[in-house]
This record gives sequence, structure tokens and C-alpha cells, in this order.
Amino acid sequence: MIEDETRVLSSVVASQLSVHAKYGGVVPELASREHLRAIVPVVREAMEKAGLRWGDLDAVAATYGPGLAGALLVGLTYAKAISFATGVPLIAVNHIEGHIHAVILEARQQGTPVELPALALIVSGGHTHLFEAREEGGYRLLGRTRDDAAGEAFDKVAKLLGFGYPGGPVIDKLAPLGDARAVPFTMSKMKGNALDFSFSGLKTAVLRWVESKDMTAEIAVRRALLREFPEPSVEQWLEVTLKRTLDLVASFQRTVVEELLRRAVAAADQVEGVHSLIVSGGVACNSGLRDAVNVHAVGIPVYFPSRALSTDNAVMIAAAAFPKFRRGEFADLGMGAEPSLELS
Ligand code: KG4
Ligand code: ZN
Repeated sequence: MIEDETRVLSSVVASQLSVHAKYGGVVPELASREHLRAIVPVVREAMEKAGLRWGDLDAVAATYGPGLAGALLVGLTYAKAISFATGVPLIAVNHIEGHIHAVILEARQQGTPVELPALALIVSGGHTHLFEAREEGGYRLLGRTRDDAAGEAFDKVAKLLGFGYPGGPVIDKLAPLGDARAVPFTMSKMKGNALDFSFSGLKTAVLRWVESKDMTAEIAVRRALLREFPEPSVEQWLEVTLKRTLDLVASFQRTVVEELLRRAVAAADQVEGVHSLIVSGGVACNSGLRDAVNVHAVGIPVYFPSRALSTDNAVMIAAAAFPKFRRGEFADLGMGAEPSLELS
């Protein structure tokens, strides 16, 4: 629930990580089922916390893509029902624009608004995209991953090593305990757009390294730990993790961070008159990324969201909807979800 461009009345997030954890990744069917289960109580709680009744609403916003079709449909259909029943307009928001607006909202709240044009580096489980957010409105895609998203790389490497799902948070906690220079991963040069990313080669390099070290027993012990404790503490992980593995995750994380930073710096050089860099999406939680991507490294002010607004949440959708509300940019109740929606 959001009241104006700075005031958040309530924020409720229903996590379904524990449902997907035992499968080592998001299972689409389970995601829709969990959305269906959560949507009514979550909206009710958000309304109660904000002290609002249906009649108090001015508009209702939902994301319509990109994402998993089933999950998108649940949110969009529910928002349409609210719109239809209460008579307030529906606002359709691009999920990626939501991640960008989470940062714009918080920067405004802190009295240091993001100056446009800005670069936006969106790094999540599904995206690794670089955009220019234009002063006159709209976005221009500058680069994107050609294969895995950065978060996906964290998740796949963690799964391979027996650290469970999601992988980002565990690797983030263990990486500082290893030697980030121990494994010299080399990233191959790509032809074409210099602002594109690729993480599948790095994932394969990790796999080759693991195979060369015969880590089967160590990984099996971690998988056994996970069966007993769904969310082990760092201390518990350390009991079943050798130094070589800490070095590996540290080196992996350093390489991902360097790749992201390199493209952000290149984009800042290429886009004339760019004033700021926005970093958002689940991987924006990463401490290594937060340390490395700063005004000194990039040459322009860098804005990260709070950790709470880095991963998916409803505040970011409301924040992206607000300017559309001002402009009277409303959606038709006949609109559908768009799993492969682009940002433009
Ligand atoms: O934005 P998000 O919540 O959902 C998507 O839209 O994908 O991002 C989830 C992704 C997962 O891949 C997760 O491993 C990653 O963000 N992630 C992290 C960290 N926290 C979450 N990656 C690296 N370091 C973290 N601390
Ligand atoms: Zn997201």
C-alpha cells in the first residue's frame, strides 16, 4: 500500500522459498499454487496494516510480466477483480520497472533522488539486464545476458556444491571466508554487444573444477545436513565445508561481481550525460557486489535498494504504478499476463 511518491503505508511479503527449496529451484506449478494460497490473506493483511478499507483505494496495480505465467495470472486476476468490484482503475506494471522504482522510491525517501538519465543494472534469478532510464521517460535496453541470469548462476553453483536453494544468500555469507583469488576463472571474450553478459561458461568452469577435485563425499555430507536442517547457519555450513570450497565460492562470486562491474563501467562510459547507476533485483543483496560497485569504481553515484526491497515485493510495483496513476495510464480489464514482456 502506497500513498504518494514517498509514503509506504504497509508492505507484506509472502515467501515461498521453503516450498521450492527441496526441489533445488522454483517449480512453476507450485509457484502458482502458493500464489493462489497466499494472495487473499496477504492483501487483507496489507489493507489492515495500512488501516484502509476497499472504499479508500484510488487504484490497484499488479505486475503483468515478465515472469511465470501461472504466478502472474494469479496476481493480475486478483487485481482485476478488486478493480471491477471497487470501481478503481487497474494499473499494469512491468516487473523489471518495479525493481527500478524500488530504488527510485527509497532514494527519494532519503532525500537524495536519483537523477535521470540513469543506468539500471537489474540482477535477479531471471534477469541480468542493463537499461538506460531516460529523462523523458521510457527505457533503452543496453545489454542483457545471453544465457544464465546472475542469480541463476549463484543458484546453480550452490546446488551443484550441495548448498541448496536459493544459492545467492549462502554463497554471499561463505565467500568472505575464502580466498577470492584462489581459483583464476577466465571469462571468455564475447563477440557482438560489449554490454551483454554470459554466465554459463563460468558455471561450466565451476563444474569442471569440482570434477577435478573429487568433491563427491563433501557434497554428499552437505546434502545430508540440508535434509536435517532446511536452513543451516554459517557455523553449520563451516563444519561440512573444506577450505578449497570456500576458496571456490569466493572466486566464483568475485568473478560474477567483476563481470557486472565491468559492464556497468563500460555502459557509464558509453551513455553520454548519464547521472547515476541503479542496481536492483535479488542479487543486489550481495555484499560483494555492494562493496565493489560504488561511485569510485563507476564514476557516477550508485543506488542500491534496502535488502528488503531488493528481492521481489509489492512496494516496488506500487512505486512504479504511481507515475502511471498521475498520468492516467490505466489498463483494460481484458488485458492478459505477458510472461516474456520486454521493458521499453
Ligand atoms: O529478484 P528476485 O527476488 O526474484 C527474481 O525476480 O528472480 O531474485 C532472486 C535471486 C535468486 O537467484 C537468489 O539466489 C538471488 O536473487 N540472491 C542473491 C542474494 N540474495 C538473493 N544472490 C547473491 N547474493 C545474495 N545475497
Ligand atoms: Zn524480481
